[in-house]
Amino acid sequence: MNQKLNGAELYQERYGASPAAASKAPGRVEILGNHTDYNGGYVLTVALDKAITIHGERLDEPFVTVYSSVFDEENRFPIHELQRDPNHPWANYVKGVLFELKQAGIEWGGFRAVIAGNLPIGAGVSSSAALEMAVAFFVQALYPYQMEKMQLAKLCQRAENNFVGMPCGILDQFSSIFGENNAFLFLDCDTLEHKVLPLPSPAPAIILCNTHVKHELVESEYKTRRRQCEAAAQTISEHIGRPVRFLRDISLIEFKDFEDMLDNVLRCRARHVMYENQRVLHGVSALQIKDLSHLGELMRLSHSSSRDLFENSCEELDVLVEEAQTIKGCIGMKLTGGGFGGCTVNLVESDKVDSFTQVIRERYAARTGRECDTMVCGIGEGAGIVFS
Ligand code: GLA
Repeated sequence: MNQKLNGAELYQERYGASPAAASKAPGRVEILGNHTDYNGGYVLTVALDKAITIHGERLDEPFVTVYSSVFDEENRFPIHELQRDPNHPWANYVKGVLFELKQAGIEWGGFRAVIAGNLPIGAGVSSSAALEMAVAFFVQALYPYQMEKMQLAKLCQRAENNFVGMPCGILDQFSSIFGENNAFLFLDCDTLEHKVLPLPSPAPAIILCNTHVKHELVESEYKTRRRQCEAAAQTISEHIGRPVRFLRDISLIEFKDFEDMLDNVLRCRARHVMYENQRVLHGVSALQIKDLSHLGELMRLSHSSSRDLFENSCEELDVLVEEAQTIKGCIGMKLTGGGFGGCTVNLVESDKVDSFTQVIRERYAARTGRECDTMVCGIGEGAGIVFS
């Protein structure tokens, strides 16, 4: 495989034909609202200018053939047999979306495609949701159908929840499809009300620092955290004597009255979510008055809460956050996404990008003996069809 080729060129090289259609879907970074989405809470998020692309064409046969340039693997499967395949886990995201499209009554047939793009895999920028969204739009390009953006985000979330088996919330899929240039996005994960929040100019750079640490238990810890939040909501519900669907249904005043009914672990988890929701709302207000330093302070507090209460940080993430706080021009910093490794997100004044990346790398190496990658990102547009 030639890494320098783009998706269209790769398709041409591999299959000897020009692609008839292409789609594109960006990754995301969560700015505030860590583990709030599946609690019906609030998130502040942004789509990146790095994306997954799919190029290919319709074929008159009942098979799908997909090639992943990152894994340098091809997977071929019959359109009527969408089965999980442990040998090609990346293909399960493709099949999951195809399955959910079918469930939604959308007809699609055979095709051949190449998955490529410049969004790194496993770096905590949600390449899985980007792949799902890119598949949904690629199918739309070949076999046109109509669906509202939010419905499509929910469909892709179901693909990940049900087919892949990861009980994520809607943050990643929402961010990938609703991305807007030069703006952060707010979402109320219960009512699905959302807002576009333009950034002041010059916009800060978004710099991701990748610890390259991925704890084996990420997936099981994510599921445990989700169960703990649900258990906390259930216990409080029994004490206040009314049904609650998730932590979002409990007001801060009620929480203060009843949090002592929870055991220590559940109280910490729930406290993180309750106050993180408040931080998102304050972050939105800060952005509306272009007060980036307040937004940055909220990010720092969010990280401390993830570290101490939600316990989804790790030493390497904490080192990056501690060091970033002392580097000139770094406005805000925190872990992002699931946690337990992965990346920190840093908002950095646009003219301090080079000095920030140099200093953070040196200090991280000095304290941990490891290298950290830095990725300077711009803000990207939401997912869609590139051509058809
Ligand atoms: C992962 C999940 C999201 C969200 C974040 C934490 O990225 O996929 O749904 O829960 O973790 O905020």
